[in-house]
Amino acid sequence: MSDVKKEIRVATGDRAILPEGTRLVPIYIMGKKYMVPETMTIQKAIEYAGYQFIRSCGCRGGICGACPTVYRILGDYHLNFCLACQTVVKENMYLTQIPFFPANRAKYNLEEVDASAETVMKLYPEVLKCVACNTCTKSCPMDIEVMEYVNAAMRGDIAKVARLSFDCIQCGLCSSRCPAQIQHFHLAQLCRRLHARYQVPQAEHLKPRVADIRAGKFEKILKELVNDDRETLEKLYVEREMEPQDSHDWEPSDKQFL
Ligand code: SF4
Ligand code: SF4
Ligand code: FES
Repeated sequence: MSDVKKEIRVATGDRAILPEGTRLVPIYIMGKKYMVPETMTIQKAIEYAGYQFIRSCGCRGGICGACPTVYRILGDYHLNFCLACQTVVKENMYLTQIPFFPANRAKYNLEEVDASAETVMKLYPEVLKCVACNTCTKSCPMDIEVMEYVNAAMRGDIAKVARLSFDCIQCGLCSSRCPAQIQHFHLAQLCRRLHARYQVPQAEHLKPRVADIRAGKFEKILKELVNDDRETLEKLYVEREMEPQDSHDWEPSDKQFL
């Protein structure tokens, strides 16, 4: 029996059923070697190796930001960054995950600040320490122009920060590497909030719906749903009316909650 076969871990569930001829490659999880199928994402390979996630895993779809991962390939000095749920393993990948990155979030009342450079400077003064190294951009698994939005924040171009940072999943990888210790994702979130509150025209069509909520129109049905048993909820879900594909003027037949 070859060394490779000896190192195959016993996995549970359908993760153990691999296509015929699947090649196993070595990866290193926190320094320990495991042989895993070369077709798996890092996240699945970690599970295949026998670990169970209680942190560092959420949506499994590249949206929640729970699985930021740092790795080097054996013999290559480059440090790489990715999301474990979106990246297929590579041979000799030394990896670890960062389930949480500490970053202080400024406290503010959105009604008492304005969409200006002064607000940004007051709440996140460290933004002025940026040395334009672009490390944040290179670290971002979402390919966001992070340095570009930091520069826009310094100029008070709140709309540009909001636009550039729209896809941020708050994984924290940019902040983990910044020599100026900037807390990019909180800064960007502040700007998106300021943009939505002060710069984007209010959505007129939402006003009647907000009034409905305030008037308690949905209280009764929500209470009923909370008290329903699982079977009733499953039935409601399965039998719900769904909007057909490519429909422009569809409305549900039951309009009592419209
Ligand atoms: S990593 Fe920090 S210092 Fe470097 S460009 Fe980004 S924000 Fe500026
Ligand atoms: S901007 Fe920073 S926190 Fe947001 S996705 Fe990119 S690396 Fe993660
Ligand atoms: S698990 Fe949510 S982004 Fe990877």
